[in-house]
Amino acid sequence: MINRIQNTVLFFCKFIASPRSIGAIAPSGPKLAQEIVRLADVCSAKTVLELGPGTGAFTSVIACHLAADAHFVAIEADAHLALLLRKKMATVRTVAGSAEHIGRIMKSYRLPPADCIVSGLPWSTFDAALQDRILCAARDVLRPGGKFVTFSYVHALPLRQAKRFRAVIERTFATVQKSPIIWKNLPPAFIYCCQK
Ligand SMILES: C[S@@+](CC[C@H](N)C(=O)[O-])C[C@H]1O[C@@H](n2cnc3c(N)ncnc32)[C@H](O)[C@@H]1O
Repeated sequence: MINRIQNTVLFFCKFIASPRSIGAIAPSGPKLAQEIVRLADVCSAKTVLELGPGTGAFTSVIACHLAADAHFVAIEADAHLALLLRKKMATVRTVAGSAEHIGRIMKSYRLPPADCIVSGLPWSTFDAALQDRILCAARDVLRPGGKFVTFSYVHALPLRQAKRFRAVIERTFATVQKSPIIWKNLPPAFIYCCQK
């Protein structure tokens, strides 16, 4: 409980300092985390990537469901959050850097193509070029049939960049499915489950 309050306070301070890059006022809740990890099929994956772990709301659930011999790398742009996550979850390889460099990062760890990518990135605050660079890089490192799973807030849906993001994932992946709304999240959200 204390941990959760600390994470929420830290997250909110990060949001105040850098609203576009953090993109949310609070970390994702447990219901969204459970559902995104279930839809990504983390249990049966051998290589799992997480983009934008923040304070680790999805990271801890991924780590719980991961097979013993699976590889798991988390990529976080905020160097301070990456450092804290490394301290909190020493078994997770946390890289401080941008998700755009996912290909280079995978090469440096000699990882095979990913079975799934779980994203916590704030797509609707990204400009078009950054959306494209990260989505292209993510698709390139996924194995055929691999899953790219991400979420969006319901209130952000009318935003131009959110609509654009939806159109780009439709073009980038073979299939895109939208989950029902998860009301037990602050703010309510839904998940896009995309398959290469
Ligand atoms: C909306 S928060 C989500 C945090 C966490 N996954 C959750 O659901 O609570 C977005 C996170 O993505 C990180 N981020 C933003 N741009 C990024 C980028 N280009 N590459 C990697 N991480 C990025 C932010 O620093 C922040 O931690």
